[in-house]
Amino acid sequence: MTKIISLVGQKGGSGKSTIAVHLAMEAFLSREGCQVAIIDMDPQGSVMEWSKMRGDANPVVLPAGSTTVSDILDQAREDNFDYVVIDTPGRQDTTMIELVAAKSDLVLLPLRPSLFDVRAVASTVDILKVRACQIRFLISQAPARGNQVADAEAYCQSAHPEIKIAQTKILHRKPFQSALIEGQGVQELGRNAEKGKLEIATLFEEVLQIVGGCP
Ligand SMILES: Nc1ncnc2c1ncn2[C@@H]1O[C@H](COP(=O)(O)OP(=O)(O)OP(=O)(O)O)[C@@H](O)[C@H]1O
Ligand SMILES: [Mg+2]
Repeated sequence: MTKIISLVGQKGGSGKSTIAVHLAMEAFLSREGCQVAIIDMDPQGSVMEWSKMRGDANPVVLPAGSTTVSDILDQAREDNFDYVVIDTPGRQDTTMIELVAAKSDLVLLPLRPSLFDVRAVASTVDILKVRACQIRFLISQAPARGNQVADAEAYCQSAHPEIKIAQTKILHRKPFQSALIEGQGVQELGRNAEKGKLEIATLFEEVLQIVGGCP
């Protein structure tokens, strides 16, 4: 059965596209025969650009808007895709978030551990609250040291106790940037990307625990 994982959040630059691409790449590279698509709902088309640069048909990247996403997902199910990862734009309207959440098995809400970012998440949470799908905050672009992550987690837990925080944290790492610029994933880089590779593999395992799918 096709599992749908979405990256949402109305705060721009939280890491949605970076995480969407890397999760899709992890499914595609680590599970033989796994069919993976990314749906790029951002009119800026950064994932489409990445795919063009990659020059490879896999993972499949498809553009979509609010009016076309349902049909595209139906087609992906019919075509037996294992995973569809949906990347959404930074400035999503309520309708798009509701629509995407209603179609998803899991919604990931990446969050930079800064006061402005954790406060800004409230509006997205309000829209998501009424949805039945699984939702996780996902700490993204975290500094390697300091109290910021612990502070952000404490804030989220007290402000939004009903939403769990993913155990995996994505740190701020240069290879996440350099890979995408080259149409790659960190999985395809050398030894300097080992920590990033491990983070994404761990995140994908955590996602699998929630949504199931490819063994
Ligand atoms: N873990 C990370 N480490 C280092 N840089 C990162 C990381 N995640 C994202 N970035 C960088 O931060 C910027 C924003 O990331 P990204 O485009 O993934 O965010 P976004 O949420 O998709 O943004 P938008 O809301 O504009 O679509 C990019 O320049 C990206 O390369
Ligand atoms: Mg983006």
